[in-house]
Amino acid sequence: MAGKAWRQLVAVASLLSVLWLLPWASAIHRSDFPVSFLFGTATSSYQIEGAYLEGNKSLSNWDVFTHAPGRIKDGSAGDIADDHYHRYDEDVELMNSLGVNAYRFSISWARVLPEGRFGRVNPLGIEFYNKLIDSLLLKGIEPFVTLNHYDIPQELEDRYGAWLSAEIQRDFGHFADVCFAAFGDRVKYWTTFNEPNVAVLTGYMLGTYPPARCSPPFGSCAGGDSDAEPYVTTHNVVLSHATAVEIYKRKYQSKQKGLIGIVMYTTWYEPLTDTPEDRLAAERALAFSVPWFVDPIVYGDYPPEMRQVLGSRLPTFSPEERRKLGYKLDFIGINHYTTLYARDCMFSSGCPLGQGTQHALAAVTGERNGVPIGPPGGQCSTSCLTASRRWSPTS
Ligand SMILES: *[C@@H]1O[C@H](CO)[C@@H](O)[C@H](O)[C@H]1NC(C)=O
Repeated sequence: MAGKAWRQLVAVASLLSVLWLLPWASAIHRSDFPVSFLFGTATSSYQIEGAYLEGNKSLSNWDVFTHAPGRIKDGSAGDIADDHYHRYDEDVELMNSLGVNAYRFSISWARVLPEGRFGRVNPLGIEFYNKLIDSLLLKGIEPFVTLNHYDIPQELEDRYGAWLSAEIQRDFGHFADVCFAAFGDRVKYWTTFNEPNVAVLTGYMLGTYPPARCSPPFGSCAGGDSDAEPYVTTHNVVLSHATAVEIYKRKYQSKQKGLIGIVMYTTWYEPLTDTPEDRLAAERALAFSVPWFVDPIVYGDYPPEMRQVLGSRLPTFSPEERRKLGYKLDFIGINHYTTLYARDCMFSSGCPLGQGTQHALAAVTGERNGVPIGPPGGQCSTSCLTASRRWSPTS
């Protein structure tokens, strides 16, 4: 029951984006939106900065991952990327010419704290983000700053296995504290994590992103346990979020008057057939993707659908951890790419092995009787169709 209210919120938000974007795409005008509505662009640090060894930055987990032979099909890496580190002024000017009034970017932890918690704050890292933020504000572009968009100092991976260890909660808190202190006078929108549900699934279940950990049938990785590690790492991500939010709310918010939240990758799931089994499968698939992270933050515990299936594989929150979770958040960001159909595979025929929704005992597909759930578009057209082709409905 607890999860219902915000799931409705997500439903409304998804519906709105679809309503706005599809039927009347050609008829959208600025005047349809409130004057205060923000239109923006978004990036992540590893995606665009480049300068991977400049300005006293240390190696991130993504630098190490992309440089390992065979990891990336064409052997490319983000060493230079869009060279944003050197060309940020031009990039801000491009945004200005588009007429946007918001820009969401992430901070490279390895640039600000080259050794994680250990060692000192890197003044060159602080200087880079100060220049970027000032350049944005000069053009009237509101900065939305993400503390973690997948990349962390490799030092933390090597030292204690990064998100697998509870130690990272303290280190993430320290990183957040440094950022609030350095940038919070000008940054009024903070996001602790961008799409942590993607990072955990790809990093610890499917093994396709760093640290590339998984076990069969999800993939064959050098190490990992796809049945257990996603739940351990999510626990540490959720508590790292709570650590950062507590620091912001206790030390900074009353002075800096900003907001802090989290951004989730939100696939919506519709039942493949109108049966109780498939309706429950759709609810499970959803619970295992977004409420997995957001229910603990908003309600203090994982969704009941997950507890039912996973039992003691799902960690529990201690009283002290629940106290910390009490700081919750100020907003939930929704990145919505697609909706998929979910079919029950608990009672009916078996679950397709190695799908991200396998633990939810749901099989997902983008098609019903060969008809796509909606017009294919953009980024998802290849990856989502590939995912859906692993399993095709027989009825
Ligand atoms: C960059 O790192 C080098 C080597 O550790 C150090 O000597 C130098 O002072 C650093 N530069 C700045 C501006 O912190």
